Amino acid sequence: MEIIIQETPALGSIIAARIIAKLVRTRPDCVLGLATGSTPIATYRELVRLHREESLDFSKVTTFNLDEYVGLPPSHPQSYHAFMDEHLFGHINIARENIHIPDGMAADIPAECARYEAAIVAAGGIDLQLLGIGTDGHIGFNEPTSSLASRTRIKTLTEQTRADNARFFEGDLGKVPFHCITMGVGTIMDCRQVLMLAFGANKATALADAVEGPITAMNPASVLQMHPVAKCIIDEPAAAKLQRTAYYRWVYANKPEWQQIH
Ligand code: PGA
Repeated sequence: MEIIIQETPALGSIIAARIIAKLVRTRPDCVLGLATGSTPIATYRELVRLHREESLDFSKVTTFNLDEYVGLPPSHPQSYHAFMDEHLFGHINIARENIHIPDGMAADIPAECARYEAAIVAAGGIDLQLLGIGTDGHIGFNEPTSSLASRTRIKTLTEQTRADNARFFEGDLGKVPFHCITMGVGTIMDCRQVLMLAFGANKATALADAVEGPITAMNPASVLQMHPVAKCIIDEPAAAKLQRTAYYRWVYANKPEWQQIH
């Protein structure tokens, strides 16, 4: 994994947006895997700015989101459909038919999961998957002990994840759904490039375990050690428990020019 440590989430988010923008400019019909939660919001804000001010064109881009709550309709303000409209899709020129988010209201959830996997394959696979990491090491909503070979399926959220996300539901734990549909760990591993973001001290333990610990289903993000093109952009507080930060900074400072992001 390539670890890029930045002083602030704002600086890290600009780098993430640049990586995505470069892909969109190089391959206008690329397939992006997108994430929700607090972490990617500033990256989306920068992508919106690049669209408005530097004509970044999303008209041919296809997107697949990682997950959606079961039982929340797209009109629910805390659904991930609504989140994506609010933070990205409502502000860029993406074609509605190119947006894919699991249907949390599907009557037949296994069929919806199979349809989602098939749609990813039909689109040619995901070129770049944006990820956050949960305080328990989840990616997507693949909670600890998720099969590292899993595909899109229903999952039950842990109490920790429900508590972490209660802030989006007016702090009311009772309003947080128990279930979600999420891309599997195996689905994420099939993406051609992975870009994981982690900001804040509450991510430090999960992040250190993911990057420097053993590969284990107890921390699903740790499987990214097996991904050939995984970048991780983090801020100083999230980096606090890593052992080899001096090396990561050294690598980033000494990249050959053709590899540089700026
Ligand atoms: P957060 O969630 O960005 O809201 O911290 C990350 C995650 O759960 O993947």
